[in-house]
Amino acid sequence: MRQVKTAECNGPAEAFDVARVREDFPILGESVHGKPLVYLDNAATAQKPRSVIERVAGYYETENSNIHRGVHRLSELATRAYEDARGAVRRFLNAAQDREIVFVRGATEAINLVARCYGGVNLEAGDEVVISAMEHHSNIVPWQLICQEKGAVLRVIPVDDRGDVVMEAYHRLLGPRTRIVALPHVSNALGTVNPIKEMIADAHRAGIPVLIDGAQGAPHAAVDVQDLDCDFYAFSSHKLYGPTGVGVLYGKAGLLEAMPPYQGGGDMILTVSFEATEYNALPYKFEAGTPNIAGVIGLGAAVEYLTGLGIEAVAAHEDRVLAYAVERLTCVPGLRLIGTPARRASLVSFIFGDVHAHDIGTILDQEGIAVRTGHHCAMPVMDRFGVPATVRASFACYNTEAEVDVLAEGLERVRRLFDGV
Ligand code: ALA
Repeated sequence: MRQVKTAECNGPAEAFDVARVREDFPILGESVHGKPLVYLDNAATAQKPRSVIERVAGYYETENSNIHRGVHRLSELATRAYEDARGAVRRFLNAAQDREIVFVRGATEAINLVARCYGGVNLEAGDEVVISAMEHHSNIVPWQLICQEKGAVLRVIPVDDRGDVVMEAYHRLLGPRTRIVALPHVSNALGTVNPIKEMIADAHRAGIPVLIDGAQGAPHAAVDVQDLDCDFYAFSSHKLYGPTGVGVLYGKAGLLEAMPPYQGGGDMILTVSFEATEYNALPYKFEAGTPNIAGVIGLGAAVEYLTGLGIEAVAAHEDRVLAYAVERLTCVPGLRLIGTPARRASLVSFIFGDVHAHDIGTILDQEGIAVRTGHHCAMPVMDRFGVPATVRASFACYNTEAEVDVLAEGLERVRRLFDGV
């Protein structure tokens, strides 16, 4: 991602040994339809390194127990591992305090939590929520739901033909009725890296808090929530080399304190009687019931894995592969990139002649290449660019320029099968 240090800042390109990194991911040795797997669907979910797989298995083999509840040895071990993962995530985001890290099911649940618990008490009829035209559905529908309930209005920052937000329009939308701004760090359909630090500062000048949907941001860039000064930051474990079914909501302690709980149940309480319930302290107030203990511990291992590689070295490597992909695909006759933003990270979206994206994806699959095709859970983005669907190739720390070449060759096969591309 280009707002972090470049390869030059990180020393020579050879410093990142992608062949070594690939050895950490058992699945990359698999074949698909007799061809070596070329996995370019990382924006949907990333593959898991052995350290994460083994950590989850190790938890079940030697520590499996419920947390925060038992005085026995296994419960102590599981509780410590779970809370260590919270510490690892806090360091990863550079949050000020562990209690600002809430474990949830994923970025989607994190945004739903904020929409319901922050929006639920701060939105009134006529108030406004500002999002952008490049959101995926997870950062649209939760806000629609709460706006409908409260009679509030969803306002949408337009996106220009390149796929960048129109900043003048954003500034005009920040008004006296705006109660919260929710923006993607990186667009999952276009790859646009938004100028979130600037956009957060703009909102804060008007006294408006900002949620950053980091589903496509946190796996690809160093995130410093204190430097960004975002009020909330959400991301999913499974896009960051961790298990599915777990994610993170970072929130400033003062805001989280003021919000009511999301769900009721065990662990989120201090005392319960039939007359009244006293809620637990942060972050437990938002972690009702037995959480995804193995998932959280696996996420901790994923964060440690990524930190061990060096997020800035990973970002620089991904930028090199991405730049090569943009250059290589731009030279494929009949291929049109959807989204040519000023700053791009981790993925390219494209159409190819008039061949439907799903047909392209099916032919590429025969070559062992996994891409995502369709609307990418971002139907308004497809409408904005006047296309029903795109093919999306998205990159991770283990992808290579050679795999981009395989993709380009796969597209030549599509051309041969579909005369006229
Ligand atoms: N939001 C995920 C994607 O972009 C599922 O593919």
